[in-house]
Amino acid sequence: MASTNIEPVETDRSAVHAALSQNGFAYVESFSDMDDCQDYLTTYLGLGQTMEQPGGHHAYEVRARPDGDAQSSSRSTNELNPHVEGVNYPDLPRYVALLCVRQARSDGGTTMLSNVEERLRNLDADLRRDLTTPRDFGLPPNADERTIAPIVEFDDDGGVRHFRYSENQLLYGDTHAVLHGSASPPILAKPWLRAFCREVRKWHETSHIQIRMHDRSLLIFDNRLLHSRTRFTDRARVLIRFWIR
Ligand SMILES: [Fe+2]
Repeated sequence: MASTNIEPVETDRSAVHAALSQNGFAYVESFSDMDDCQDYLTTYLGLGQTMEQPGGHHAYEVRARPDGDAQSSSRSTNELNPHVEGVNYPDLPRYVALLCVRQARSDGGTTMLSNVEERLRNLDADLRRDLTTPRDFGLPPNADERTIAPIVEFDDDGGVRHFRYSENQLLYGDTHAVLHGSASPPILAKPWLRAFCREVRKWHETSHIQIRMHDRSLLIFDNRLLHSRTRFTDRARVLIRFWIR
């Protein structure tokens, strides 16, 4: 069931690691190291190193811009469809961290997270074969090799190692799908993949937790969780996003 009652955790290393291993995410409020967040994530928590994101940034500003208005993208105020970060990069981020500088003053801008691992472990044989067959995820920024990888990779013990999922990328061939007015863009995916995306959306909608981040809060989550976001109107909303591996 969807829940809106997310308890923040303390900023100390053990509390954050305990929340990450138990729930796949950790939410911290009244975060005091806004300017040193990158150092907090890498040196203090020891989660890994930050990665370069689109535009060459390690600290990527999630903010609506006029050129993003027609997209389903972090550069817009639009709803974001379920996805994980970095699907067209050869190495997926292991963790995503969102630092909320300023939440939307009006409604919206709520983040939804869901863990669909249990469902992925129980796929039927045909779908499992299709999802573990490598496919073309396109060119990452500033790269000359396309990323060819399966949608799902399993560990030897059957756990999910990677879930390379972006509804926009898989249905429309673009992580920042261009919206056509209020209608969806044309769907390029084959019927089995369309059906799978419908199923994933249903899983996400029925099992997500909701977090409406406060100003000066930090949300860290395992990038095998799906996330999405509701639309908002306040264009002054700003988050800083980190990818860590
Ligand atoms: Fe995202």
